[in-house]
Amino acid sequence: MTDGNDAIVIKKLIKSFKKLKVLDGIDLSVKRGTMLALLGPNGAGKTTIVRILSTLLKPDGGEVLVNGFDVRREPKKVRSFIGLTGQYTAVDELLSGRENLVMMGRLYHLAKEESKKRADELLYQFDLTEAADRSVKTYSGGMRRRLDLAASLIASPPVIFLDEPTLGLDPRSRLAMWSIIEKLLEEGVTILLTTQYLEEADRLADRIAVLDKGKIIAEGTASELKADVGTERVEVVIERPEDFDRAVKIMERDGMKSDREERSIDVSTNGSVFAVKQILDALHDAKIEIDTMSVHKPTLDDVFLRLTGREASMKGEEKNK
Ligand SMILES: Nc1ncnc2c1ncn2[C@@H]1O[C@H](COP(=O)(O)OP(=O)(O)OP(=O)(O)O)[C@@H](O)[C@H]1O
Ligand SMILES: [Mg+2]
Repeated sequence: MTDGNDAIVIKKLIKSFKKLKVLDGIDLSVKRGTMLALLGPNGAGKTTIVRILSTLLKPDGGEVLVNGFDVRREPKKVRSFIGLTGQYTAVDELLSGRENLVMMGRLYHLAKEESKKRADELLYQFDLTEAADRSVKTYSGGMRRRLDLAASLIASPPVIFLDEPTLGLDPRSRLAMWSIIEKLLEEGVTILLTTQYLEEADRLADRIAVLDKGKIIAEGTASELKADVGTERVEVVIERPEDFDRAVKIMERDGMKSDREERSIDVSTNGSVFAVKQILDALHDAKIEIDTMSVHKPTLDDVFLRLTGREASMKGEEKNK
């Protein structure tokens, strides 16, 4: 479903690098003034989509429109109304934050005075005023990320691509970045954001598309995606490590997650008290003691696990090794 209200339209997008098919028929659209989060593990093809959207890379097939303009036929036009914050920061280390922003403004053909004014505004907005005249070399990772995003906003673009904007940030800087992004949405910009953090997509995005191995394997609002997984999850932590394997056998079912180190087992249920009681009774009958039990709503992690049979994050991949 696409119409004039879509700021981004992707149809049957295909891209290969030599023999490696990286994008295998992607269909996506993003309504003006909304955010789509593109969620996927390492190597899923997120950056490739962003690079194609921002005209840095040519598609092999399919149609890609930004604000109604074709990225292949009218790349200049497309570039004139997008802002891109890359996965790897693009600011000049030797210049100060302020110099970087003013330079970027000049690149976007803002007049000198206008450029300075806009730089000041952004430095203030991104909490970089104090550090404005220090060279970027001395900035922390979080400060660089903020500067990088500020740089991409210098020309007030209506469409913004954010490629893993919070990768590697500490929780506090991540929160700061989220509130900046929320503010942009309030101002009416259209955002396509890529992330490996399900929580981030859940919190910020209007719609979420899950990308895996070059295909969109699910698309919808966070609650739609979560609804596919079951209504509730029950997690029990087993008291004695030696009971763990037996407990896993008893609770075994589709979408079960277990963590031996934490002695925790997590399964989905239909949300009824009876379902919870059944689990507790079965463990009790097997003389397996429980340390704690909790009931929670499904997360997007659960969605990913259900869709792909494996966890989404790097952390998850390492855990499974
Ligand atoms: N220029 C290139 N030449 C060859 N292969 C490439 C190139 N760019 C990307 N790839 C491959 O395409 C696949 C998708 O890469 P991409 O960078 O789009 O993934 P991603 O979802 O952004 O991953 P990450 O979360 O690690 O950033 C990977 O297998 C990658 O090795
Ligand atoms: Mg990437």
